[in-house]
Amino acid sequence: MMQTILHLKCSPKGHAAHSSQLSEEVAAQLLAANAGAKLLKRDLAANPPPVPDAAFSAAMLSGASANHAAFAASEVLIGELEACDALVIGTPMHNYCVPAVLKAWVDQIVRINRCFRSTPMGKVGMLHDRPVFVVVASGGYFTSSSPNGTPPQPDFLTPYLRAIFGTIGLHDVHFITLEGLTRGPDAISLALANARAQLERLIPTNAAVAD
Ligand SMILES: Cc1cc2nc3c(=O)[nH]c(=O)nc-3n(C[C@H](O)[C@H](O)[C@H](O)COP(=O)(O)O)c2cc1C
Repeated sequence: MMQTILHLKCSPKGHAAHSSQLSEEVAAQLLAANAGAKLLKRDLAANPPPVPDAAFSAAMLSGASANHAAFAASEVLIGELEACDALVIGTPMHNYCVPAVLKAWVDQIVRINRCFRSTPMGKVGMLHDRPVFVVVASGGYFTSSSPNGTPPQPDFLTPYLRAIFGTIGLHDVHFITLEGLTRGPDAISLALANARAQLERLIPTNAAVAD
């Protein structure tokens, strides 16, 4: 049973953002399937995490402890992540990858000897696993060709998030894609229908009954 769901929004478009709206549906579906669960929300576009500065970099490279002043924002964000049983992210694709605010969040939470260890076998995650649901909204198409045959564009977003979450121990990562959103109203309707079908397969609306 999930007790806490963390919802991160990353679009600069506020409530008009497709990724925000659909990821709210994902969070609502998780709440419906987990009676009594609470929702923690963070809008990374409205309040961007700091980018690593000289003090953060020096603290990280010198192995400073978690209570170092340069890690204050990082500890808040890691604390939210550790507190949740499921993470929901709504993000646009920006230039084939995550938007800068989501990258800034990643740079704050992926800290050596806090969230992963470096070993001779490679990096080993230190957080316990929990499901991650990522809604990705894009103007064009990247999982397959467009309906009129334009080849899919490069996708560094989904492999990047899978790799970075795996690094800290989160391996149960699911993507729901909303593609073709700048291709007119019919393409948007189709994208929403496809995305809701992906969501229904991941979190069936009768999940609470099945429990
Ligand atoms: C800076 C920027 C870069 C973008 N890069 C891409 C891209 O690489 N591929 C793409 O398909 N769409 C790209 N788009 C379009 C957005 O992904 C698209 O408008 C999407 O709907 C935004 O999601 P949102 O409605 O959740 O904000 C970009 C938009 C912006 C503002």
